[in-house]
Amino acid sequence: MTKQTSRISGFHKLSIPERIDKTLDFAGITAAQTRNLFLNTGNIPMELADQLIENTVGTINIPVGIATNLLIDGKDYLVPMATEESSVVAAVCNAARQCYDSGGFTTSMSSMCMIAQVQLVNVSNPHSARLQIIEHLDEIRALCNACDPVLVKLGGGFRDLEVRVIQTAQGPMVILHLIVDTRDAMGANAVNSMAETIAPHLEKWTGGKVYLRILSNLADRRLARVRCVWQLDAIGGAAVRDGMLSAYEFARTDPYRATTHNKGIMNGVTAVVLATGNDTRAIESGAHAYAAQNGWYSSLSHWEVTATGDLAGSLEMPMAVGLVGGATKLHPMAKANLEIMGIESAEQLARIIVAVGLAQNFSALKALATDGIQKGHMSLHAQNVALMAGASGAEVALIAAKLVALGTVRVDVAEQELSKLRV
Ligand code: MEV
Repeated sequence: MTKQTSRISGFHKLSIPERIDKTLDFAGITAAQTRNLFLNTGNIPMELADQLIENTVGTINIPVGIATNLLIDGKDYLVPMATEESSVVAAVCNAARQCYDSGGFTTSMSSMCMIAQVQLVNVSNPHSARLQIIEHLDEIRALCNACDPVLVKLGGGFRDLEVRVIQTAQGPMVILHLIVDTRDAMGANAVNSMAETIAPHLEKWTGGKVYLRILSNLADRRLARVRCVWQLDAIGGAAVRDGMLSAYEFARTDPYRATTHNKGIMNGVTAVVLATGNDTRAIESGAHAYAAQNGWYSSLSHWEVTATGDLAGSLEMPMAVGLVGGATKLHPMAKANLEIMGIESAEQLARIIVAVGLAQNFSALKALATDGIQKGHMSLHAQNVALMAGASGAEVALIAAKLVALGTVRVDVAEQELSKLRV
């Protein structure tokens, strides 16, 4: 057998079917079924998939479920969520149901500003250089705004600058932050261009050398905020509330727990970010960095008791989502999902996303503080296990119910039950 090599020159120049064949040959896969899987690109045209990334061979479909019962800033929403995890959509529906009658979620946004960083090294007098840069504020504003006249026309553009001197193992570095309102764009392209434009001027003014010119995903000038009160009787009484508060205090204090607590929030957040074609990694890195803003990794949300004994939840986190550029504008499903929510601005979308994040967190804490997470998970998980065991049609529900009744949700048990069912 000849040795397979991953050194393939010109792979990107092949057609998609040719790339699929090359890949399957490499893996020794001959099944026509597998080839057809790659050729079926679902609700995204093959040509578009090919334009969005490099070396495209196919797509992977993720279920989209609708979160119901969401009342956000007085308006009802049906929110599409893209996730492969069972229980995530149901958790949002349940949490939103339990606060619907008392008014739902109230949201706000800090601003729509993104930060671009420019790294300046080899500056002999960094603190003077810092002031020299600030003295050029008007010139910097003009240079940045000239990069994107359309953005300026839409009400966005350069807003401010911030210059910091940081001490590193390679000596001091002068770090410039360009603070730019990117309106309905996530803004990476806009601010990166501005940072690149400013760079040679910084070198001229300070005598230093510029290396990096790139946005920061710690988008702490673009914070989405949500708060909500769940009434005591709607959540099942003081014991449930106190269990949830204890779970929150655990997450606030312990990074091991905070990571899982925040993962639950991101179950909701990422699902809407993905359903709308936005950059999930940008949101996730920003969220986790923001969760460590006090010097230790902690809970993104806060839970408290109101004066009347009800449970108040709140969440504030960076939310750099956009409506223009990238997959949001191109992916037919992302466009349809935005239409379902009636989204008119990136701010509106950001505010809906944090509401979903808080709802998700509420349900996880409530389940954990009462029955435990497995009870709710198991019936949905049992269906997946039944499918894995080969059940189809009406068999899926029957096998899933049997697994839950047995209290053993395992593929081998599902296979045994399936063979019994089929005799
Ligand atoms: C599971 O995907 C998410 C949870 O673990 C979140 C949490 O523990 O808060 C249930």
